[in-house]
Amino acid sequence: MIGSIDSQLQARLDTLCDEGWELWSRFDMEVRQETWHPFVAADYLLVQEALVQLREPGLRFLELGSATGVITIMADLLGYEASGIELDADLVKIARELADRSKSQARFVNGSFLPTDFRLREGEDPRLGTIGEATSAYPELGRTLDQFDVVFGFPWDGEESTMLELMRTWGSSEARLLLHSVARGVEVFRGGRLQK
Ligand SMILES: C[S@@+](CC[C@H](N)C(=O)[O-])C[C@H]1O[C@@H](n2cnc3c(N)ncnc32)[C@H](O)[C@@H]1O
Repeated sequence: MIGSIDSQLQARLDTLCDEGWELWSRFDMEVRQETWHPFVAADYLLVQEALVQLREPGLRFLELGSATGVITIMADLLGYEASGIELDADLVKIARELADRSKSQARFVNGSFLPTDFRLREGEDPRLGTIGEATSAYPELGRTLDQFDVVFGFPWDGEESTMLELMRTWGSSEARLLLHSVARGVEVFRGGRLQK
């Protein structure tokens, strides 16, 4: 058991993660063996530990690139008001189905987590790397990035700075940005600074 999670909730989270790993294996075999795709699954247990530490009633959670929806649903089950934005419409469908099976209220919107007026600052590397471009999802979500308290992203190597820039310019200075990486696990940033 992690933190103050009761056994019933822990069982739901375990089922969710088990299903998440099955979905990931299927996706890896059916899609990623055929063509390159930016979806790689996070370490769900590490993310769960971070979400448990930060949870408070009424916090709004947003996942940048929510793929199969596991982390957004996890946040919902932990009591956050949780939303995920994902570029790939097929993954959004999978996430919504997983939310239904998990009896979760998590919301998923298809589109880009980049705001309509997103521009990298002059002098910055203009490449977005694996971050794709599409219509911004915030209008459909009915919220702007600065209305979220906890924002999660699993950027590819070298794209962390884009997510930090996104939060610095469009996010709330009080919000926590959770960045997951294979090398460093889950790091928490606030106001652009790494929290100890
Ligand atoms: C490295 S995967 C992380 C998936 C999931 N967050 C996790 O941690 O398991 C990145 C995801 O972001 C999505 N993505 C890439 N660019 C995006 C954009 N501009 N807006 C929304 N989703 C995007 C990809 O399709 C992919 O599913």
